Amino acid sequence: MTERVTGLRDEVRAAAARLREAGVASADVDAVELAAHVLGVDASEVRRLMVLGGRTLPDAYAALVDERASRVPLQHLTGRAHFRRLTLSVGPGVFVPRPETEVLVDLALAEVDRVAAARPGDRVRVVDLCSGSGAIALSVKGERPAAEVRGLELSPDAYAWAVANRDRLGLEVDLVQGDATRPCFQDWTGRVDVVTVNPPYIPVGAVPLDPEVRDHDPEVALYGGSEDGLAIPLAVAAVAARLLAPGGLVLVEHADSQGESLPRRLVASGDWSDVVDHADLSGRARVTAARRARR
Ligand SMILES: C[S@@+](CC[C@H](N)C(=O)[O-])C[C@H]1O[C@@H](n2cnc3c(N)ncnc32)[C@H](O)[C@@H]1O
Repeated sequence: MTERVTGLRDEVRAAAARLREAGVASADVDAVELAAHVLGVDASEVRRLMVLGGRTLPDAYAALVDERASRVPLQHLTGRAHFRRLTLSVGPGVFVPRPETEVLVDLALAEVDRVAAARPGDRVRVVDLCSGSGAIALSVKGERPAAEVRGLELSPDAYAWAVANRDRLGLEVDLVQGDATRPCFQDWTGRVDVVTVNPPYIPVGAVPLDPEVRDHDPEVALYGGSEDGLAIPLAVAAVAARLLAPGGLVLVEHADSQGESLPRRLVASGDWSDVVDHADLSGRARVTAARRARR
């Protein structure tokens, strides 16, 4: 690889300016992350080199900046996404995990801990529906190794990414390819403690503004199957109701505009009690929690 003549700091700054001009909201961070990627170091090392100088970037950097300026997601260019403690492999065909989903994992872990304390010696069962890259299922297993965790994903491409992540991380999660709107994991019917779901929930016809989402996240990961975006989330919630033991907890991520409609629809189904909505770290309505009504 040939090396460019300008210094690393100038190149990273110029790249950030270019990305900002192209409408990339996280331009500074992305310029540093791409430099880290081409140099095979972490972002803090790039920042150190920017201060100390003395290093240049290979030509590959300019090509990556061009791609990012055309709004290819950063994570598709680096091939990885950070989610909680994990670094996940991602690329075309799989939804890039988002930081706002981390709050759903916090809620799931709190419930795993509550159940484990109430039933010492029993293994807590967790099912993650619509697993994508495996972000939620693998985080729960990584952070609570004693839990028994299963995951289900419809898309063959996304499923392949999830399996690759599981195998690389060495986490014992049972991953299955299948449709979460139909009965699944039948041997666990009525025996699950926590079901996590980050389903597709964007209203059909509401096309996302960000090209990274609109043009690069798979459609099957985005659209909720109806004008209000709730058809698939509600169908998956009905499957969660079959899986959960009485009193078991479902956690469903949703759009910030669905913080009232999803809880209302869950209450109306008659399957749930204690329906509560939770905000993400930026204060937006993000996750509905509900307990399986005792039959
Ligand atoms: C918003 S993404 C979430 C992925 C992952 N759980 C995360 O939080 O990053 C929704 C995922 O649901 C999958 N999906 C869509 N319809 C499904 C269905 N009927 N059954 C199972 N998975 C489905 C999509 O392929 C996609 O991977």
